Amino acid sequence: MECATIFGVSMECPRVNVASTVSVEKSQKILLGVSGGIAAYKCPELVRRLVERGATVQVVMTEAAASFVTPLSLQAVSGRPVRSALLDPRAEAGMDHIALARWADQILIAPATAHLIARLACGLADDLLTTLVLASTAPVTVAPAMNQQMWQHPATVANVETLRRRGYRLLGPAAGAQACGETGPGRMLEPADIADALLADAAAGTSAALAGRHVLLTAGPTREAIDPVRYVGNRSSGKMGYALAAALRRAGAEVTLVSGPTALPAPAGVTRIDVETAAEMHAAVMARARDAAIFVAAAAVADYRPAAPHPGKLKKHADTLTLELVRNPDILADVAALTADRPFTVGFAAETDDVEAHALAKLHNKGLDMIAANRVGSGVGFEADDNALLVFWHGGRHALPMMPKPALAEALTALIADRYAASTSG
Ligand code: PMT
Repeated sequence: MECATIFGVSMECPRVNVASTVSVEKSQKILLGVSGGIAAYKCPELVRRLVERGATVQVVMTEAAASFVTPLSLQAVSGRPVRSALLDPRAEAGMDHIALARWADQILIAPATAHLIARLACGLADDLLTTLVLASTAPVTVAPAMNQQMWQHPATVANVETLRRRGYRLLGPAAGAQACGETGPGRMLEPADIADALLADAAAGTSAALAGRHVLLTAGPTREAIDPVRYVGNRSSGKMGYALAAALRRAGAEVTLVSGPTALPAPAGVTRIDVETAAEMHAAVMARARDAAIFVAAAAVADYRPAAPHPGKLKKHADTLTLELVRNPDILADVAALTADRPFTVGFAAETDDVEAHALAKLHNKGLDMIAANRVGSGVGFEADDNALLVFWHGGRHALPMMPKPALAEALTALIADRYAASTSG
C-alpha cells in the first residue's frame, strides 16, 4: 500500500502496477538524430544500448556531428548506413526522407545542441534531421548537451519551453563537470539512462492497453457569447489537457483533442479539433465518441450560456445589467450515458472545497469509470504549471502529488491504461 497526503487529506492508495499492463510487442524503430556537440562521441555506445534492448536504430547526423563522431562508427554499431544529406539521390532512391519519417516509431535527438534546439523550436527544415522531425508524427525525445551558460540563456530556456509545449519529451541534461572546464547543467545523460528511459516509454507505447486505441479528449475552456465582443469564460489554459493528450500519444494512442480556445500548439501527432462554445464541443465529441475506446473530459466547460446573445455590441445605458443564463448540455454525462459503443469514460472534477466528496458524487451521478479531481482557485489548478490529482474509480483510488503537469499527465495516463485494461479483461 502506498500512502500520500494530498489536499490535506491522508490517503491509502493501492499501488498501480503499471508494469503489469506493459509489454514490448515488437522491435521499436528509433530514428536517432545526432547533432554537432562533443557529447556525440557517446553516440556509438547509445546505439549499442538501444540495440541491446531490442530496438532498430537508424542514425541521421547533422553536418556538424561528423566532426565529433564518424558515420562509419555509427554504421558499424547500428548495422545501417548513416543518413545525413537531404538531397542525396542515392539514399532517396532507397528510402526517401518522407518514407524515413513514416518509418520511425520514435525520434530521439541526442545530443541536442543549443543550435539544433533553436532550429527545432523555429520549425526549420534546413537539413535532413529537421525535415524528418517536421515530416513525422512520431513522438520526439530530446537529450540536450551544451555549455551550462548556453543551457541557462533565456533564448534556450524559451526554445526548450516551446518544445515542451509541443509535446516533446526532454531527457536531462545532467549537471556536473563539462568538457569546456565549467561545471553546471548541460551534460548529456548517460547512454544507458537514455536507452532505459526511451524504451520504458516504448514499452508503455506498445502496451496492450493503449497502443493504437482511439482516445477522444477535451481540453481548455469554452466561451459563451454575450454579444459579438464579450463572452462568459473561465481560467482554463489547456495545459493539463494538452499535457495529457501528449502523454496518451506517447503511450501509443491515436488521440483526437477537441479543444476550446487556448494559446497552445497541438502536441505532435495529435489531431486537434477547435471549438469555441460548449454546444460546439458537445457536437464535436458526440460525433466521435462511439468510435473512441476512451473518452477523457479535461475541458472546463461552461455549465451555462447566455439565453439570448445580443446581436450587436451591448451599450452601457443602465447601471445594472441582468444576464439570463440557460443550462449547457453536459458532454461528459452524455458520453457516459451512451448505451451502444460507450467508451471507457474519464472525467475531471475541479473543486474549491470537499474535493473528495464532490468528486465521488460526480463519479456516481454521471456514471463514469474514473474521475481525476483537482483543487482549484487562488492560483491552483487552473493556469498553473503544476498540479495534483486525486483519482477515483469504482473500488479504488490513487493520489498523485503536486508535480509539473506533463509529469502528472504521464502518471494519469498509466492509471488510465491500467483501469482501461482491467475494464476490457472481462
Ligand atoms: O487548463 P488548465 O489551466 O491546465 O487547468 C486544468 C483544469 C483545472 C481545467 C483541469 O485539471 C480540470 O479540472 N478540468 C475540468 C474542469 C471542470 O469543468 O470541472 P467540473 O467539475 O466543473 O466538471 C466535471 C466534469 O464534467 C469535467 O470533466 C468537465 O469536463 C465535464 N463537463 C462539465 C460541464 C459540461 N457542460 N460538460 C462537461 O463535459
